[in-house]
Amino acid sequence: MATTDSYTITILLDVNGDQDVDDRAESRSYLIADRESSQAILIDPVLENVARDLRLIKELGLSLVYVLETHIHADHITGASRIQDATGARIVYGGGAQGTVTGADVFLHDGQMLCFGRTAIQALATPGHTYGCTSYALPGAVFTGDTLFVRGNGRTDLQGGSAEHLFDSVHQKLFTLPDETIVYPGHDYNGRVSSTIGEEKRYNERLNLSISRAQFVELMSRRHQPRPARMDVALPANMKAGRIEQ
Ligand SMILES: [Fe+2]
Repeated sequence: MATTDSYTITILLDVNGDQDVDDRAESRSYLIADRESSQAILIDPVLENVARDLRLIKELGLSLVYVLETHIHADHITGASRIQDATGARIVYGGGAQGTVTGADVFLHDGQMLCFGRTAIQALATPGHTYGCTSYALPGAVFTGDTLFVRGNGRTDLQGGSAEHLFDSVHQKLFTLPDETIVYPGHDYNGRVSSTIGEEKRYNERLNLSISRAQFVELMSRRHQPRPARMDVALPANMKAGRIEQ
């Protein structure tokens, strides 16, 4: 748990996925509470973890006002709609997902802010992993989805992905944040929970400042990753904000 003057972040891991059959494993969700008002937001909930997340929100006495999605996930189904049904929270996607996603209440475009209590979170359009990818920044912290990982980055070969766009998103948007800004990624496959913008500028394997845009594009073109196992189920569900018949 990380705290600042106005908010508290709780990091939620997805421990039940099986990497061999279900590559949703290692997804990260984040519950952020405004300390004064107890209003809260939840970023990237996973369907299978909804009961856990709702219990935590209740235990902490929080009032959930928004569920935010960093992008249309291909590896797991979002818990956004299920959480909305239980709490009344409004569902937020980045502006790049407008026209593709149904079931969202708000599309937050680049630079727009959402307030919960005294805390405000800002959308940063960061396409590249997929066309609609959005990062969300608080004072001192940024939630980067699958755009920037600790020492890595999301794949760029799925729907609307682009290595050029991802490089520009990281270098022109995320790397303009203060070096001490804490980076909270959408996944981590090596047991790490966070990094900083300054660390990633120096040590990111493919995006550190010594690597050019052309070199990055070349590095990404050489990566060949398997198709996500649940992609055919996850994508249509996530284009409806996770509203599926069960
Ligand atoms: Fe993703």
